[in-house]
Amino acid sequence: MRIPDYNEARTRDKREYKRLDFKLDKEVLNKYSGKKYFIKTYGCQMNEHDSENISALLEKLGFTRVDNYLDADLVLLNTCSIRENAHNKAFGMLGRLKHLKLEKKDLIIGLTGCMAQETLVVEEILRDYKFVNFVCGTHNLNELPRIIDKSIESNKQQIEVYSREGDLYEGLPVVRTNNYKAYVNIIYGCDKFCTYCIVPYTRGRERSRLKEDILAEVDELIKDGYKEITLLGQNVNAYGKDLYEDYNLGDLLEEIAKKDIPRIRFMTSHPWDFTDKMIEVIGKYKNIMPSVHLPVQSGSNKVLKLMGRRYTRESYLELFHKIKDTVKDVAISTDIIVGFPGEEESDFLDTLSLVEECKYDNAFTFIFSERVGTPACKLKDNTSLEEKEERLQRLNEVVNRYFLENNKKLEGTVLNVLVEGVSEKKDMYYGYSETNKLINFTSDSILKPGDLVDVEITSAKTWSLDGRIK
Ligand code: SAH
Ligand code: SF4
Ligand code: F3S
Repeated sequence: MRIPDYNEARTRDKREYKRLDFKLDKEVLNKYSGKKYFIKTYGCQMNEHDSENISALLEKLGFTRVDNYLDADLVLLNTCSIRENAHNKAFGMLGRLKHLKLEKKDLIIGLTGCMAQETLVVEEILRDYKFVNFVCGTHNLNELPRIIDKSIESNKQQIEVYSREGDLYEGLPVVRTNNYKAYVNIIYGCDKFCTYCIVPYTRGRERSRLKEDILAEVDELIKDGYKEITLLGQNVNAYGKDLYEDYNLGDLLEEIAKKDIPRIRFMTSHPWDFTDKMIEVIGKYKNIMPSVHLPVQSGSNKVLKLMGRRYTRESYLELFHKIKDTVKDVAISTDIIVGFPGEEESDFLDTLSLVEECKYDNAFTFIFSERVGTPACKLKDNTSLEEKEERLQRLNEVVNRYFLENNKKLEGTVLNVLVEGVSEKKDMYYGYSETNKLINFTSDSILKPGDLVDVEITSAKTWSLDGRIK
């Protein structure tokens, strides 16, 4: 049994890590043929991609996937710790599974993802959730097959979570959610330690994959006919810093852009490491999508400082405008937290005025959620939840107004769309534009997911656009 420790998770050093090839233990290959698994993913794209690896590992063990947890022999929750809400959802699901296990004694229940890295969560599982068969952390997915096998064979709870990141495994199997869009990890972990955020503790130090490994994966995806790849990291802009003297995300993007892939995206960008070279490259290549997620969190210098974000309102705006001016028709989206400890009405008004200036194309807005173990927990917070909810509502009204205003400008234009499927109403197709806008559209010809088509925009809504194929 290994239980994570926050103090250890916080430590950073210059230790060299090894790049190792994943090998599956032959003894467990197809050992559970005929059994079924269900996986539920919470959280970010990183976790979604981890679930693609986890699913593949389970399939190597012989499990086949089902879409309803009631049909499964093994249920795995790939969890997220970012806010209280994500926590509650996973614990709610564990509550339902407890009942199910009373009827279905052989049901195997497992937990992976960021919550597995939290000391308090693991302690709670040991105390109150004895029916959970295994817990595996984010740093040792390579060990998952062995952990699952051991928990089944021994019929004893297995808890295997490392506090620190280990070596970097290449060649983990993957079953991708679809065959036209793919995620590619380029960097793991985060060293920024924003004072509210749990990610540096649950995902460890920033570690870049070797560029050769990334490029080989991209080549493979191109060979398989993928149309869009998204380069993933908690902070993709830090790519390469730990490995190379003179090779960063700008260079990587450029090398990938020269390949025969129609769409390249990347996320998430912390404003801190956004270089001029990156902006230049994004502007230069048509297959790098003009869509940048640039989380601001707050428009108040006082709050930004308390958050440990390493930039000021002024330097953020300078970067924002540089991107807008250099990348033609770029859409910039953001994340904003309201109700951070110490945020007063005047600070909140600074956030609103920044939004008025940036007129974001999309924004994810949150109320600050206290995460145990992070420095923000120690800050004094005089604002009531009621007031925070009211601020969130006021903020949402402003961001929504700009979503619609920006979308209105697109009426009558023609946008290139990557087709995803048929919309819920069945009479329209849907897909995403280069700027990542959801487009619902009609077409006389039959289309399939992964097709790239031109769509004339006929009307704009706040969160989507309607159109017809050109
Ligand atoms: N690495 C990314 C963010 C990943 S988390 C970045 O720094 O840009 C996604 C978003 O969740 C953050 O941008 C932030 O807005 C929000 N978030 C993170 N921790 C939070 C917390 N404790 N309470 C509320 N929102 C939080
Ligand atoms: Fe969290 Fe900040 Fe790292 Fe983003 S950059 S993952 S908000 S610590
Ligand atoms: Fe959540 Fe972990 Fe992602 S905390 S947002 S799943 S990195």
